[in-house]
Amino acid sequence: MRAAFKTVCSFEIHEASPRFSAIMGSDGGIIGFKNIEQLSDHSVAENIAIFRRLKQNYPTKLILASIMGQNDAEWEELARLCEKNGADGIAAINTIKSVIGVNPHTYVSEPAVRGRSAVGGYSGNAVKPIALRFIAELGQNPALRGMHLSAMGGIETWRDALEFILLGACSVQVTTAVMQYGYRIIDDLKTGLNLYLAEKGFNSIQEAVGLALDAISDTTDVLERDTVIFPRFLREKCIGCGRCAISCGDGGHQAIKLDENRRPKLNGQKCVGCHLCILVCLQRAITPGIKRIQRK
Ligand SMILES: Cc1cc2nc3c(=O)[nH]c(=O)nc-3n(C[C@H](O)[C@H](O)[C@H](O)COP(=O)(O)O)c2cc1C
Repeated sequence: MRAAFKTVCSFEIHEASPRFSAIMGSDGGIIGFKNIEQLSDHSVAENIAIFRRLKQNYPTKLILASIMGQNDAEWEELARLCEKNGADGIAAINTIKSVIGVNPHTYVSEPAVRGRSAVGGYSGNAVKPIALRFIAELGQNPALRGMHLSAMGGIETWRDALEFILLGACSVQVTTAVMQYGYRIIDDLKTGLNLYLAEKGFNSIQEAVGLALDAISDTTDVLERDTVIFPRFLREKCIGCGRCAISCGDGGHQAIKLDENRRPKLNGQKCVGCHLCILVCLQRAITPGIKRIQRK
């Protein structure tokens, strides 16, 4: 385990209130998180004292220091104080610039600070696909081979962490999920990863680093295009809501019609195997089918 520290700076930090906002899922949990927070509000001296204490108490653990200067001299001074000159690793991603929740009556977005707001950093599980894309790109870059890649962006569970590791991350970091659930999720994350390693017969997590890199391409040109996988409708699960037919009709290829019992009927001539119907079915009553056709 490593401790990654809030960015240390020597300018005065004076935070706004409120400073967070979030997009919630239907279960009330946070999907995406926005912050307009600045950097560490502790002085440089206070932060360095905390580094020293951590080093004393946990001599074998690594501290990742993050610094921001306003000019070269400040950067140098902070780097010297943190005993960190020159990079031997890359951490990604930071939060993504965002605006969320514009109020239709006040016209102010969130978080609103006495009638105004500001563009702020978006994080949490919603940014994970974007973060994974960045990590894959870094993981595949030959110029970065051998460099320690520390990944973050939307990690909540061991499975999230594993996905970053499979794309080349040597370590992972968690911010928003810890703010939401506390440090206890790290224990769950470690337990899950250890079970996965045991199941796969891996001796260490290093053996999983980058295993998914070969199968991801930055262009769709390389993909095979001759096979169509039709959807398979599970009659026993279908409740006849018609979502598949609506989505296919209005947003797809008009390949699904409902029969007299409101059960989906597929027109194989029209179906392109896009699987939109599978994704919109709330009953999970549609799965990828076994029927494939070879195009000429
Ligand atoms: C409230 C808050 C404060 C943050 N402060 C910093 C910071 O001081 N320095 C920094 O490099 N990143 C900072 N970040 C970005 C995180 O380190 C991380 O890159 C980002 O939140 C994505 O990871 P996550 O989805 O696990 O939160 C902050 C994020 C949040 C939510």
